[in-house]
Amino acid sequence: MAKTKLTFQCQSCGYVSPKWLGKCPDCDSWNSFIEERVQPRGLRSGSVQDPIPLDKVEIGEGFRYSTGISELDRVLGGGIVPGSVILVGGDPGIGKSTLLLQAMHGLSNGQDRSVLYVSAEESLAQIKVRAKRLGIESSKIELLSETSLENVINIAKKIEPSAIVIDSIQTVYTDALPSAPGSVGQIRECSSGLMAFSKKTGVPSFLIGHVTKEGALAGPRVLEHIVDTVLYFEGDRGHTYRVLRSVKNRFGSTNEIGVFEMAEKGLEEVNNPSALFLSERHENISGSSVTASVEGTRPVLVEVQSLVSPTSFGMPRRTALGIDQNRVSLLIAVCEKIGGVPLGTMDVFVNVVGGLRIVEPSADLCVLMTILSSLKEKNIKDDMIVFGEVGLTGEVRSVANAEMRINEAKKIGFRRVLIPEGNRKNIKGITDIEIIGVRDIHEAIETVFNDRS
Ligand code: TYD
Ligand code: MG
Repeated sequence: MAKTKLTFQCQSCGYVSPKWLGKCPDCDSWNSFIEERVQPRGLRSGSVQDPIPLDKVEIGEGFRYSTGISELDRVLGGGIVPGSVILVGGDPGIGKSTLLLQAMHGLSNGQDRSVLYVSAEESLAQIKVRAKRLGIESSKIELLSETSLENVINIAKKIEPSAIVIDSIQTVYTDALPSAPGSVGQIRECSSGLMAFSKKTGVPSFLIGHVTKEGALAGPRVLEHIVDTVLYFEGDRGHTYRVLRSVKNRFGSTNEIGVFEMAEKGLEEVNNPSALFLSERHENISGSSVTASVEGTRPVLVEVQSLVSPTSFGMPRRTALGIDQNRVSLLIAVCEKIGGVPLGTMDVFVNVVGGLRIVEPSADLCVLMTILSSLKEKNIKDDMIVFGEVGLTGEVRSVANAEMRINEAKKIGFRRVLIPEGNRKNIKGITDIEIIGVRDIHEAIETVFNDRS
């Protein structure tokens, strides 16, 4: 028999070392190494296949299962691909179990096979209470309270479900490793086991994963490489809406978002997120404007707010929520140097309303305008949206999908858009909305505030 090898693994990034280390050389975390015993597997045997010429490979029908929740289907790229493994991450209490219970209900509705919901975290009674609240009474959702991966797979082989949910991947373990559930080795081994099962049988599996304080999936960054699709369920505790974001998808576009609202009876789909994000907007105030951000294939209008006030300490504070802090620093520098606006003694706070996170630079121009608006105490017209990327020399650069953004603004009832001149030139056939193109921030400032400063 092969000798068992002793290794030490970093629990936050999966780095493997032959001896214990105090600090991980890869991710710099302290005291993160745990002993893991690995049983060398010998040479992998398996069926030997002949290679197939590319033009002879068959794609299949491209069939996908629908979960009955169109927001979720869209984030998945049009439904669940048979045999895929989907990781759903999110803070505790955000609604992961609720989402998957609803999705499994929708999935099992359409077919005669049942789904297997494995809860290693909650008792069956707890799940029943949740299902009751959601109004789900189904004989086609098989519940299993089990933490052993081998047992789960055996049962799955027996009942042949149409999908498996593991709630959560951090609490299941495999006998192949002696380390505790939740360690990197266990998570990796369990996910690979499920992956192998899914690929062989075509049964899709959903893995629920917890997120650490830093926002990464606990332990398994390693896991993101294994699975086909990674979805993050995000949202603010204080708000009822939740955003499901795809960060990796082998079967669809990434950056796609689905918007839900957590209601009394479970998650409800929000088909018009722009209206939701703008619903509490006040009119006639300085330091606020609306931008259009394209998330995946869908434009979303969001309000951007800025507050500029004299600093009470020597060091001015720059705080950004929902947008990259470095981007805001860059825009403040452009304001100062190119716009000639002194901000050195001012605190600047920027917030994207509604807990949404904007990742693309198209919000630059809007952020810059709200900062100036707050500083000058002049408001930006309420019926205008602003988008465009701002470069370091103060030029306003064109962005992708401009027409899509303008059409969304029109749909919500905005009457004018301030956009990069480069985009305006190429826009044809959009009527009933005033389109103003600007080449640099000076032109933008003049248009918005009607003065030369
Ligand atoms: P849950 O799905 O248990 O979260 P997770 O699995 O991500 O930890 O959701 C828990 C929260 O959702 C809890 O605070 C209660 C709330 N909730 C509702 O507001 N309405 C509902 O219908 C349900 C089922 C939960
Ligand atoms: Mg849960």
